[in-house]
Amino acid sequence: MHTQIMPPSSTTPKTVNPTSLTRRDFLRTTSTALAGASVVGAMAGGQSFFAATENTLKLALVGCGGRGTAAAIQALNTGKSVKLVAMADAFDDRLTGSLKKIADKHPTQVDVPKDRQFFGFDSYKQAISAADVVILATPPGFRPDHFEEAVRQGKHVFMEKPVATDAPGLRRVLAAAEESKKNNLKVVVGLQRRFQAGYIETVKRIHDGAIGDIVSARAYWNGRTPWVKKRADLEKEAGRKLTEMEYQMRNWYYFVWICGDHILEQHIHNLDVINWVKGGYPVRAQGMGGCQVRKGPDYGEIFDHHFVEFEYADGSIMSSQCRHIPDCWNSVSEHVVGTKGTANITSHIIRATGVEEWKYGGESKDPQQVEHDVLFDCILNNKPINTAENGALSTMTAIMGRMATYSGQKIEWDEALASNLNYMPEKLAWDALPKSLPGPDGLYKIPMPGQAEVL
Ligand SMILES: NC(=O)c1ccc[n+]([C@@H]2O[C@H](COP(=O)([O-])OP(=O)(O)OC[C@H]3O[C@@H](n4cnc5c(N)ncnc54)[C@H](O)[C@@H]3O)[C@@H](O)[C@H]2O)c1
Repeated sequence: MHTQIMPPSSTTPKTVNPTSLTRRDFLRTTSTALAGASVVGAMAGGQSFFAATENTLKLALVGCGGRGTAAAIQALNTGKSVKLVAMADAFDDRLTGSLKKIADKHPTQVDVPKDRQFFGFDSYKQAISAADVVILATPPGFRPDHFEEAVRQGKHVFMEKPVATDAPGLRRVLAAAEESKKNNLKVVVGLQRRFQAGYIETVKRIHDGAIGDIVSARAYWNGRTPWVKKRADLEKEAGRKLTEMEYQMRNWYYFVWICGDHILEQHIHNLDVINWVKGGYPVRAQGMGGCQVRKGPDYGEIFDHHFVEFEYADGSIMSSQCRHIPDCWNSVSEHVVGTKGTANITSHIIRATGVEEWKYGGESKDPQQVEHDVLFDCILNNKPINTAENGALSTMTAIMGRMATYSGQKIEWDEALASNLNYMPEKLAWDALPKSLPGPDGLYKIPMPGQAEVL
């Protein structure tokens, strides 16, 4: 069967002031918008305000790593009317490698001379100013700065998840999201399951009542440990000592201010799917976690496992696990239990009492390509698409879960969102110090449940 790709909801949520929002306000203002947030825009019709003037859309890439490079290629895959004109990265070696890969794939759509290659912490500002559309694909700690600037400059945005690593950054993204909506900017956040036909059809059937009311959910990202950049190897390669800032930037996965911990960096995908099914965000969370095996100076300050019970306003529970421990049971998936049946959302299977099992059998186009197909179609044809607010609130879900596991306390959504705990360094410069520093033994302090301050 063929899944109909629906246009985004035309319902624009009312203007919100994120700093004074209650959770109820969030649900009220986002649920209508999110009804269509699975969306993938219709490919015909609409008014072309770029094509009509025969403009080529100028694209900039900020954060030229694995995902940014792939996202730029996907953006250029959407058609000849898109050209990559500027790139920015903290490090020149990352930018050079990325440029080559993109140019090899799309030689006629890349025009990034030396004077539009920008390096360092402030590089994003110049790259954004050279473009109509920007891809923000640095690690998430920088997203609030970058998204705010893109919106300030009136640019359309594709930004990767997560969109912040702490509540102060998150509130800035919510404010910029609101501004972007007012200014008719098109924004897509890289939560690609919402652009995946099998997910869309499965969630639609659940929303249509296929398994009754949802009473519980399970979300997993139990998998492999990602890459690690050891200080000794980095220094050998560089032929010099690295500053602490440079080391943490190169080995960013293991530092909360840049990465947010893997409950945020990876598990957000699964949490977002359950939020999508529920049509809202949890009201509280409690959980446990720690660092059992991934220890040592090269592994920074994050946990290697988290278990969280998230509770939604109707009392239903999402059990969430994420783990990076070798030789354990692995699963990256989402499941829900309803009053009339169950769904394995990841495998797109629905089992309901008295009804034959349903399994999605339609198209399975790469959802990360679809994200760009939709974004550029919406830009070129002035159709609405803006998933920034949902990206922010699913990021907040993961931040609340992290607060629960680090502290061992029950955390309420409103207090989590209002938290002023800011993980970012006072100053971003190669010789400035991040807030988290190694002790004399080279080890970083790992949050201790029962003691850690998280609000
Ligand atoms: N949607 C998905 O499935 C998916 C998959 C992979 C990664 N991601 C997300 O994409 C983002 C990037 O991940 P990645 O795997 O490409 O990491 P990466 O390390 O390969 O790339 C990040 C790049 O950003 C650069 N960078 C870091 N700080 C910067 C700054 N302040 N200004 C400019 N450049 C800066 C780094 O030098 C690096 O080149 C993360 O948010 C990650 O969660 C999403």
